[in-house]
Amino acid sequence: MRRIAVLTSGGDAPGMNAGLLAAVKVAIARGAEVLGVENGYDGAIDGQLRPLTRQTTAGPAPIAEIERAGGRGGTVLGSSRCPRFFEPEGRTQAADQLRQVGVDGLIVFGGNGSLTGGHLLATETGFPVVGVPASIDNDLGCTSDAIGVDSALNTIIDACDSISDTARSHHRAFVVEVMGRDSGYLAMVAAVATAADAALLPEQQLSEAAVIAEVERIVRAGARPDRQKPRILIIKAEGVPVPATRLVKEVGKRLADIGVDVRATVLGHIVRGGNPSAHDRLLAGRFAFAAVGSLLSGASDVMVAWRPAIEGGQPTSDSSVVLFPLEEMLAETARLLDGSSPVTLARMERMRAAQNVLGL
Ligand code: F6P
Repeated sequence: MRRIAVLTSGGDAPGMNAGLLAAVKVAIARGAEVLGVENGYDGAIDGQLRPLTRQTTAGPAPIAEIERAGGRGGTVLGSSRCPRFFEPEGRTQAADQLRQVGVDGLIVFGGNGSLTGGHLLATETGFPVVGVPASIDNDLGCTSDAIGVDSALNTIIDACDSISDTARSHHRAFVVEVMGRDSGYLAMVAAVATAADAALLPEQQLSEAAVIAEVERIVRAGARPDRQKPRILIIKAEGVPVPATRLVKEVGKRLADIGVDVRATVLGHIVRGGNPSAHDRLLAGRFAFAAVGSLLSGASDVMVAWRPAIEGGQPTSDSSVVLFPLEEMLAETARLLDGSSPVTLARMERMRAAQNVLGL
């Protein structure tokens, strides 16, 4: 019987549990057994694994723990940021631990750093690895979507709706900071979805002075006597290197003449928690189906991707899911973040067009 392992790594993302449950069920259906690696790559190095399937009279079945967790946020296996995995010794030890318990393939749910680790594990040790994009940041190349992004957006939208209630009551302006590390994707999409006045993104590469001037301009435009917006909302990505509190303090000083109150709310880890949306559960299930199938068919050093916006990749039986070599995906991720990817250029072009409309 084939024995595979699943692991969640890096920042948790809503839908990881749905992906784990789906992977277990697909593996059972394909006659394989699944072990869960606890706490990301730390657990792989230390040999912390637990069975996610057990034998019943009717045959193997998913265990209650993972069935209960399927609809919940976070990750039932635990996760970690694992500095030991940055070193080749850590990766060799992880491969040895997995082989010792008879595991012959690994599915990694994670983002940029986690799949970089997966690529190194596969290439250096020959251990078969298939990656599944799971990160609220949506900063992975070759895939248009990752597990957790849709849920994070829904959380941001709910929070902005609540903030808008109080903002309108006091005719205040708010700068809401959202997670995303070096990517402005969440801020960009949330700004459109909440009909905010503007989005501040790292990809715009604005200096601190330019960010302050831009926020002042937007607030002045919204507060003009002929406009008098009841709510002014600006979504700022965390990757814009001006702390939200300093930003509103500086802007507040400049707006003394019109007396608009500008406040900051940093949503922080709230954006990463909560139960997964329908879309993320479905995405997780379809990714897991393709990932398990590919691993059991001998694929390695690849990632499952959702409706890629770039050419290439290898089709799977799911017309929306394509397999990309991890190396190619990581190179495209670098381009996505340094702004040279056609995907980033197209997003920025659309955002420039949207900014003119948002400000109205
Ligand atoms: O990668 C997901 C993410 O939530 C980023 O948006 C954020 O920058 C980072 O993780 C925060 O990481 P931690 O929870 O380790 O502070």
